[in-house]
Amino acid sequence: MSKKILEKIKIDFENSLQTVGTDLGKLEVLRVKFLSRKSELNKILKGIKNLSPEEKKEIGPLANQTRKNIESRLTDLIEEIQQKKDLDKDWIDVTAPGKKERIGHLNLLSKTQREIEKIFTSMSFEIADGPEIENEWYNFDALNIPKNHPARDLWDTFWMKNKNQKGEKLLLRTHTSNSQIHYMENNKPPFQVVVPGRAYRYEATDANHEHSFCQFEALVVGDDVSVANFKSIAQEFFSAFFQDEIKIRLRPSYFPFTEPSFEFDISCKVCRGKGCSTCSNTGWLEMGGCGMVNQRVFESAGYEKDKYQGFAWGFGIERLAMMKYQVNDIRHFRSGDLRFVQQF
Ligand code: DAH
Repeated sequence: MSKKILEKIKIDFENSLQTVGTDLGKLEVLRVKFLSRKSELNKILKGIKNLSPEEKKEIGPLANQTRKNIESRLTDLIEEIQQKKDLDKDWIDVTAPGKKERIGHLNLLSKTQREIEKIFTSMSFEIADGPEIENEWYNFDALNIPKNHPARDLWDTFWMKNKNQKGEKLLLRTHTSNSQIHYMENNKPPFQVVVPGRAYRYEATDANHEHSFCQFEALVVGDDVSVANFKSIAQEFFSAFFQDEIKIRLRPSYFPFTEPSFEFDISCKVCRGKGCSTCSNTGWLEMGGCGMVNQRVFESAGYEKDKYQGFAWGFGIERLAMMKYQVNDIRHFRSGDLRFVQQF
């Protein structure tokens, strides 16, 4: 009787094994079914002691053999499946396309600044630097903007709490024009220099105004530098920057550090002067301020009065980048928003 049952268990086991495939969970179910304490096989093993000596002799080894057999079949299969899984894990598809590494790149502002520097370098300009933390002298007085003069109101200033070692008040420079004085203190004309850098204003921000922004100051000084020189250099620069023929226009204006002073416009690069929404139908875009260096500024820098002539300008780098790359809000530049950064 038991012999038949053992036969059936064997066949049952083999049949079940065919259905589990590589599913380790199903194998565990088989193990419980065929080897657990409640399994049919275990019942037979437990009943051996009650058999007659002859039956014991026959059934005993057969039942044990069946158990061992099932055990080793299961163990082998589990090992085989496990090995195959490990192999799958290490398998590399050498034909699969590689993962692209994302490489960082220059921010649009740095890129624009470098474009500007490259053009001026090609025109034999020097690129110089100036301090962002400044005293009142360099940012205001030396530029002919004395204390209590209403012109100071043109520049809303971030004042620092700490004074410098000489007890002077400190501020974040409101424009790159401070660099004019530093440069002239250390250099004698003739020279032509551009100073790009950050400037700060204590003012509310909107799509066209930021409290921190970049300018590039140009200063050209010599014995007989004129407005005509200025116009041709500016025209050359803007045409190279926008890679288009750009017209320029000067309008009378006022800055304490220039005399005469101008507001500087370029022909609208979107409509080429015909009039469109970008230029409010005027055909012109405002770039910034410029003018012939006021002799008082030369004096502040230690030059002899009326010995030299020069022109200067201070233009916004963001504004140029906005025009060239069609950015509609200056606040994007420092937002840190990757959706913006990655476009350029
Ligand atoms: N410093 C001025 C500003 O930020 C811009 C400026 C105007 C700079 C005229 C100049 C200049 O060098 O000549 O508002």
